[in-house]
Amino acid sequence: MEFKNKTVFITGAAKGQGRGVALAFAKEGANIIAFDLGKKIEYPAYNHACSEDLIKLKEEVEALGAEIEICAGDVRNAEEVKAAADKGAARFGGIDILFNNAGICAYALSWEMTENEWDTMIDINLKGAWLVSKYVIPYMIKQKSGVIINNSSIGGLRGMNRLSHYAASKFGMIGLTKSQAIELAPYNIRVVSIHPTGVNTPMNDGLAEMEGATPIEIAERSAGNLIPVPWIEVEDVANSVLFLASDKARYITGSQFVLDAGLLTR
Ligand SMILES: NC(=O)c1ccc[n+]([C@@H]2O[C@H](COP(=O)([O-])OP(=O)(O)OC[C@H]3O[C@@H](n4cnc5c(N)ncnc54)[C@H](O)[C@@H]3O)[C@@H](O)[C@H]2O)c1
Repeated sequence: MEFKNKTVFITGAAKGQGRGVALAFAKEGANIIAFDLGKKIEYPAYNHACSEDLIKLKEEVEALGAEIEICAGDVRNAEEVKAAADKGAARFGGIDILFNNAGICAYALSWEMTENEWDTMIDINLKGAWLVSKYVIPYMIKQKSGVIINNSSIGGLRGMNRLSHYAASKFGMIGLTKSQAIELAPYNIRVVSIHPTGVNTPMNDGLAEMEGATPIEIAERSAGNLIPVPWIEVEDVANSVLFLASDKARYITGSQFVLDAGLLTR
């Protein structure tokens, strides 16, 4: 029970990596504040509502004997983000770990995409991470400890065809990570980014649908991993996040943790 009495705020918690990380922390005794969309958003492949998945996550976390506060909201909405941080911190007595994970992905050539496609990508993936940190950091400063883990991507470390808006948002997360690491070190708060290669999550189902390809074709096209797996699993991401959030990683801050099955070696 490595994280007993610790509280973790997770965005994009209803599905994919966020859900997997929430369950992994719950197994280690943490309290979970799970934040995800409660209603549909206007964006290709993101027309789903997540509140049902949040309720399912609540049942799964409670079955593990851990506590969870579920909060429906959009990372672009300051009021909803602040309300979730305040409610979760009031219930559990603070916030120790933030996993900034909510994100979207969609393909478009940079000169063909609309302004709305560009803005929405940057607003959710990059501004959203900052906005959530803005309302969580004061709780960490108060207790003079904390860890922020930003879920970037291999797309935060290299260019990607038809993903200029996605890559720009994910490169931006590195700037946020490094700058906040400097600002927050005096308060004993570490900030790191993680950079997974393709992960086996519903995000890739949506893309496959949009591209008219199977998920495996999408993964094979974009991966080229040195270790030949089409994609890594949510558990692989969760293992890394739990390590980075633990005291075993006490000297790791401002840096980029790459989980790429060797992709960027070439
Ligand atoms: N799947 C991959 O191959 C991959 C690889 C590297 C990095 N990532 C990044 O990992 C993160 C998680 O992705 P995933 O693979 O679990 O995707 P996913 O689509 O399975 O889950 C993302 C979750 O974020 C939520 N979300 C989206 N927009 C939101 C908003 N505005 N406010 C609140 N919640 C919102 C979704 O509802 C969903 O539950 C993303 O930031 C993604 O860019 C994904």
